[in-house]
Amino acid sequence: MGTGDSIMEPGIILILMALLQSGAALLKSEVYFNETAALPCQFPNSQNLSLNELVIFWQYREKLVLYELYLGRENLHNVAAEYMHRTSFDQSSWTLRLHRAQIKDKGPYQCIIHHKKPTGLVSIHQKDSELSVFANFTEPEIVQMSNVTGNSGINLTCSSGQGYPKATKMYFLLKLENSTELEYDGIMQISQDNDTGLYNISISSYVPFPDAISNVTIFCVLKTQSMKLSSKPFYKVPSHHLLATHQYSWIIAVVLLFTIFTCGMGCFLWKKTKKQQAVVSNKSEATRIQKEKNEETEERMKIHLPERNDKVQCGVQP
Ligand SMILES: *[C@@H]1O[C@H](CO)[C@@H](O)[C@H](O)[C@H]1NC(C)=O
Ligand SMILES: *[C@@H]1O[C@H](CO)[C@@H](O)[C@H](O)[C@H]1NC(C)=O
Ligand SMILES: *[C@@H]1O[C@H](CO)[C@@H](O)[C@H](O)[C@H]1NC(C)=O
Ligand SMILES: *[C@@H]1O[C@H](CO)[C@@H](O)[C@H](O)[C@H]1NC(C)=O
Ligand SMILES: *[C@@H]1O[C@H](CO)[C@@H](O)[C@H](O)[C@H]1NC(C)=O
Ligand SMILES: *[C@@H]1O[C@H](CO)[C@@H](O)[C@H](O)[C@H]1NC(C)=O
Ligand SMILES: *[C@@H]1O[C@H](CO)[C@@H](O)[C@H](O)[C@H]1NC(C)=O
Ligand SMILES: *[C@@H]1O[C@H](CO)[C@@H](O)[C@H](O)[C@H]1NC(C)=O
Repeated sequence: MGTGDSIMEPGIILILMALLQSGAALLKSEVYFNETAALPCQFPNSQNLSLNELVIFWQYREKLVLYELYLGRENLHNVAAEYMHRTSFDQSSWTLRLHRAQIKDKGPYQCIIHHKKPTGLVSIHQKDSELSVFANFTEPEIVQMSNVTGNSGINLTCSSGQGYPKATKMYFLLKLENSTELEYDGIMQISQDNDTGLYNISISSYVPFPDAISNVTIFCVLKTQSMKLSSKPFYKVPSHHLLATHQYSWIIAVVLLFTIFTCGMGCFLWKKTKKQQAVVSNKSEATRIQKEKNEETEERMKIHLPERNDKVQCGVQP
């Protein structure tokens, strides 16, 4: 066992050293488009040097200067135009903040620190980092290309935009009632904005409906290196199913019409009997005025009328 350990140790140390070296060589930082990036320097300052003795600067691709702190004072002389008023130095963490990060800001950065001595500037620290810039694509959106409701499929377009880096895939996803999923690719169009460097992407495709399907839910899916975005569901009931519902509505319409018709007839006849009743009561009133004594006739009519009414309603109802 002891021998095994002694053999392993140098190997482990070598691997650790390699890891440390690669870690020291390149730090990775990430930022979302138009947000603030942090460019590290990781200066340990073991000698406890004051800013007044140091010249600190960050450069991009080893040529453009983003920021310079010369013996404690900001020096704009060497700063490249595109970084003017976009940086701020965080003294507590020895980090440079780069505001409103653009796609073209991605790439290698260097933080360099020199110590000013009476004899001249001595380089005492350097840290390299690599900045990646991301932008989330907008939620994909499905648009139906024409109002023609095809019996067997539809033409759809899906679009998303303002993303970075380039999306890797975009497709339509059909979910059937029996939870089967189908994918349809389309003609993909990608365009890049000249100013921002962001990508827009769209696909257009004829999406066929499987046979004997009454209900399809369509999604548009966008895949990037790091994530998968889905559109809101787009529901489509194929027209052969719509036709079937139309047939149902015909039956419902006929039944409704029949009901309305019979009801109408009933109401008509009911009204008619009411009229008769009114006429009769008018008559009886006239009789009352003319011959005040004749109460018997009125009473008899009151008895007769409900009978007649019942007869009429019974005649219509079946
Ligand atoms: C960047 O963010 C600012 C607000 O911080 C906003 O006004 C501006 O429109 C954004 N620019 C882009 C290109 O998104
Ligand atoms: C570093 O120097 C400052 C003054 O320049 C002093 O206040 C501080 O205590 C020093 N820190 C260490 C750890 O020596
Ligand atoms: C981008 O999307 C990721 C994952 O959904 C989310 O965590 C992050 O906050 C989003 N960033 C921005 C700037 O919208
Ligand atoms: C489809 O019809 C709706 C209204 O019925 C209309 O607003 C829309 O513009 C039409 N779309 C196409 C592509 O013809
Ligand atoms: C879909 O588009 C193709 C080509 O533009 C056209 O021939 C077809 O009739 C369209 N189908 C539907 C259902 O809109
Ligand atoms: C679901 O329905 C489709 C279309 O009718 C059919 O092709 C497929 O085999 C069905 N899947 C299952 C699991 O039943
Ligand atoms: C990308 O899409 C946005 C929003 O739809 C639009 O304003 C912009 O002009 C498009 N850019 C390109 C290069 O197509
Ligand atoms: C289609 O299916 C979805 C989800 O399964 C459901 O919410 C929707 O009501 C269905 N539509 C029809 C017309 O059957």
